[in-house]
Amino acid sequence: MTDTDRLNIDLGERSYPIHIGPGLLGQPGLLTGSLPGGADVMLVSNETVMPLWGARAEAALAGRRVARCVLPDGEAHKTMATLGVVLDALVEARMNRDCIVVALGGGVVGDIAGFAAACYQRGVAYAQVPTTLLAQVDSSVGGKTGVNHPGGKNLIGAFHQPVVVIADTDTLGTLPDRELRAGIAEVIKYGVLGDADFFGWLEHNVGRLLQREPKALGYAIRRSCEMKAAIVGRDEREQGERALLNLGHTFGHAIESGAGYGAWLHGEAVAAGMLLAAEFSRRVRGLPGVDVARLRDLLVRAGLPVDPPRLGAARALELMRMDKKVKAGRIRLVLMDRIGEAILTDDYPPAALEGLLAEAMGEAA
Ligand code: NAD
Ligand code: GLY
Repeated sequence: MTDTDRLNIDLGERSYPIHIGPGLLGQPGLLTGSLPGGADVMLVSNETVMPLWGARAEAALAGRRVARCVLPDGEAHKTMATLGVVLDALVEARMNRDCIVVALGGGVVGDIAGFAAACYQRGVAYAQVPTTLLAQVDSSVGGKTGVNHPGGKNLIGAFHQPVVVIADTDTLGTLPDRELRAGIAEVIKYGVLGDADFFGWLEHNVGRLLQREPKALGYAIRRSCEMKAAIVGRDEREQGERALLNLGHTFGHAIESGAGYGAWLHGEAVAAGMLLAAEFSRRVRGLPGVDVARLRDLLVRAGLPVDPPRLGAARALELMRMDKKVKAGRIRLVLMDRIGEAILTDDYPPAALEGLLAEAMGEAA
């Protein structure tokens, strides 16, 4: 692998490049040259990331009119109200339909700014400049945008693809350790859902990721984006295969919203959710117990939580029933037959799910 990688996400006229590597925001013309010519820019970030990386991003946008929109930090602010803040900023800056929104930050900023771009004047272009590991391996790629609702995670949103993703790995230098670990959860997800060799690589290299070794991080980001780009290229609107990217998420989203947005980081909830999915797969699909143990061990070594909060089985089920994969009232889950082989299915006894939730999360709230 070279220091800088360029992948493509192939979606016909909505295809776009993903650039991965160090120093990309300092590379002359890369960001601004990737945007439609001459367009004004609304740079959206939050109160944590803008002071750290806003000046670098603005320098990379030299020659454009740039207005800034600074959001409050945190999952608790991934709301319709914060979406309104971005839309107000676009109106106040007199941005026209040919403007471009640049999302500088983690998945929360990217999801809100992307959704604002999808809505403003019925849709304007946007670029993703992800600054967390989670956003670089997952949320900046694939065009899912949106906000949370008190009744469920990411319930309001739109599919809207960015025109470019620029993952400058230097930005990870200021990322808190806990956030890095949350990103590693989504990296592990890719191995579990579709690449047993990559899972094996992670078992050997998770320590290097935790130490932020650039070569290891670069490889993990590239492999994750390759897998995501290929899946989204085949199933942009999640009619089938794309749902596999939600491994651990039906349980995880229930944990995130049930515990109160922000108490559990998204990646932490996905970690505990993946282990619940694995244990359930052992019970109803014959996933070997050794695979469950390997996943648990890797998550623990990555410093991730593996035991869900005691929300109570009834509350957890209620939240899981709001999942976007529910069809005809049945909760469809991403389960595993072995590490590297996942399947979306509702073919399991509902009582088995209730039993698992009662054991893992308690009988009552
Ligand atoms: P986040 O956006 O909340 O960022 C985590 C924290 O790190 C925040 O406090 C942020 O301000 C801070 N931060 C970001 N970059 C930093 C940097 N370089 N240095 C220092 N601090 C920095 O969380 P996240 O984990 O990036 O994203 C989680 C969100 O992404 C969830 O809302 C989840 O639903 C969403 N998501 C979306 C998709 C998708 O396909 N759209 C996929 C996965 C997750
Ligand atoms: N993070 C799941 C998806 O993009 O489909």
